[in-house]
Amino acid sequence: MPADLEDLLGIATGLALGAGELIRSGRAHAAEDVTVKSTPTDVVTAMDHASERYLVAELARQRPDDGVLGEEGANRVGSSGVRWVVDPIDGTVNYLYGLPWYAVSIAAEVDGAVVVGVVHNPESGELFSGVRGGGAWLGEQRLRCSEESALGQALLSTGFGYDADRRREQAAVAAALLPRVRDLRRMGSAALDLCQVAAGRFDGHYEQGLSLWDYAAGALIAAEAGARVQGLRGAPAGTDCVVAAGPMIFPAFRAVLEELIPAGRTH
Ligand code: IPD
Repeated sequence: MPADLEDLLGIATGLALGAGELIRSGRAHAAEDVTVKSTPTDVVTAMDHASERYLVAELARQRPDDGVLGEEGANRVGSSGVRWVVDPIDGTVNYLYGLPWYAVSIAAEVDGAVVVGVVHNPESGELFSGVRGGGAWLGEQRLRCSEESALGQALLSTGFGYDADRRREQAAVAAALLPRVRDLRRMGSAALDLCQVAAGRFDGHYEQGLSLWDYAAGALIAAEAGARVQGLRGAPAGTDCVVAAGPMIFPAFRAVLEELIPAGRTH
């Protein structure tokens, strides 16, 4: 692995572990200071802010020339060509309710392309990582995505946005997909969902309306585990849609999604 990527991976890993410990140890107080963002169900806790403050401060200390984009408002323009995309808690609703399924997600971009991704669930201790061209890992274990080839046998996951109208449409897609697959999970953290695709624990994941910080690290990890990660109708993965699946099932999976999600219907 090139030394510079190894450096970025080391920094991302250290930051994910540090922020993970911060949010895990502060979870008991998660409900004490909760505000809302885009809708009354789109919550943000004081620990989302504390975790982002920690990440931004550490990056300023260790990588003062890099840019930073964070879910809770961090947006620093850098001069080095490196930008960090951070989600201080992905799965904030799970976090608030005490469900042990949330993560810190950290991606490093070089000249706009994600080259390193780390996703850490501090409750399970699992740390997923990926380096462009260098594979995907769960701790020391190399990851390989699913080889499932029959859509009817596929265990898939998805997620829903916070806006009620958008959810109505997303629920209709999920309802139409469900009879055609093994089953569908809604776990509550897109970053972790994509890492489950990398680990072969899900055959695929799709979601409309994600933000870059939700999927940047997980998408690289899934791709480095051999998954195809794209959008619909030839588009790259993005806010309109992220589709990630093992290569055997990907064409059928995406075709069904293109049938169910009309062209032009964005998130
Ligand atoms: C959310 C989670 C969820 C996904 C939502 C995201 P947050 O991120 O990733 O799984 O379905 O679209 O907004 O708000 O917990 O950081």
